[in-house]
Amino acid sequence: MSDWSTDSWRSKNVHQDVIYENQPELDSVLQKLGRLPPLVAAEEISKLKHQLAEVAAGKSFLLQGGDCAELFDYCAKDPIENKLKVLLQMSLILTWGGRTPVVRIARMAGQYAKPRSKPMEVIDGVEYHAFRGDNVNGIDLSDRKPDPQRLLGAYFHSAATVNYVRSLLSNGFADLHHPDNWNLDNWNLEHVVCPRVRQEYQYILDRLSDTIEFMKVTGADNTSVQSFNTVDMFMSHEGLLLEYESRLTREAKDGKHYNLGTHFLWIGDRTRQLDGGHIEYFRGIENPIGIKCGPSLQPDELVALLDALNPTYEAGKITLITRYGHEKIADYLPSHIQAVQKTPHWGKVVWCCDPMHGNTETVQGVKTRRFDHIVSELGHAFRLHKENNSRLGGVHFELTGDRVTEALGGSMQLSEEDLSRNYQTFCDPRLNYEQSMDVAFLIAKYYQDERNPLIRL
Ligand code: PEP
Ligand code: CO
Repeated sequence: MSDWSTDSWRSKNVHQDVIYENQPELDSVLQKLGRLPPLVAAEEISKLKHQLAEVAAGKSFLLQGGDCAELFDYCAKDPIENKLKVLLQMSLILTWGGRTPVVRIARMAGQYAKPRSKPMEVIDGVEYHAFRGDNVNGIDLSDRKPDPQRLLGAYFHSAATVNYVRSLLSNGFADLHHPDNWNLDNWNLEHVVCPRVRQEYQYILDRLSDTIEFMKVTGADNTSVQSFNTVDMFMSHEGLLLEYESRLTREAKDGKHYNLGTHFLWIGDRTRQLDGGHIEYFRGIENPIGIKCGPSLQPDELVALLDALNPTYEAGKITLITRYGHEKIADYLPSHIQAVQKTPHWGKVVWCCDPMHGNTETVQGVKTRRFDHIVSELGHAFRLHKENNSRLGGVHFELTGDRVTEALGGSMQLSEEDLSRNYQTFCDPRLNYEQSMDVAFLIAKYYQDERNPLIRL
């Protein structure tokens, strides 16, 4: 690709760009970033792309989830463990329900930059920069000026998070030989989990323990079988700040360029302009890429994006993360599916439903989402794919393993009065632990009913 370089995006119009006052300071930060070691390996990125190719082929399911805006403060033992646990538990439920391997991607270890609808906001008559995420500026009004040093903060917090995730996973955190580790009781979460969720999850764990026990007895089990001892957990974030992303992009032994700051990056709904800087940057990297597809995306534009980003029709390269809203999905998803169906990209892309971003509303002055709307968009996605001879390959959630009260509903029936109890997000509202488990069970049930309406969990 002779006309591409890690900096060719600079000649294009960059949407959601951050303007720094001190250019020499920015330059020295970027120079340092360019020297720091990679956070992930090119081989891991290729492995994920292969796994996503399996999803595109209908042999696997994708679960992607995590915070809307990850904060540097979340780089701590409990938040990391809790997020890992909820993603692992959800993936176990999906594997069981769908009888399918699950590819896990966390919105984590780098999800620090946020696009905003307005760059400035007025508070008490004073104009401030909007909060753009911890790698740009601070939430505190006194800290709203974009600070280049925060880019280094993003790198080091990502590194510490990735390091802790790796050490947990390589030391038995996800070992199915010790289902105790998967048990809700051991995690002191019993009072959050409603009885129905508990019961169903426990049922799965018991069946799993029995099966593993049976395999041990029959000799079919081999403790060195890696898939029982640990799992793959890939990291992802929105590739928004091209200054940061391009410095973490390195040429590998194969002569190709990989963003070694994370495994998977997605292009936001606000930065996917065909002639913009983001598409220019993304077309040159080897990582698997997500494209957020909202109502404003024209079907022919979608095909043009696929052609630009994946001219060789590589399977697993592109994940289309659709986010229309429960009332709009039926108006937009079919035409997007049909447009791709007419091209060689068909069968190569992963279709993933993000039922969060089209369903945000404001209640009592805070942003929230209704569990019923989230589930409704998901249900429509399953149905519309089927009706159009397509297949929903995955789901994308904003969630946390913590006990927040940001989204309404779910089996704990969070009400508008509950919102103020533990509303923590500085960006979009997330599913809490319990609501995340609820949604995983609903998807598992969908697959079970598909397979055989008579068999129940
Ligand atoms: C997000 O995923 O947090 C986000 C901003 O999404 P979108 O680009 O789809 O609005
Ligand atoms: Co969000």
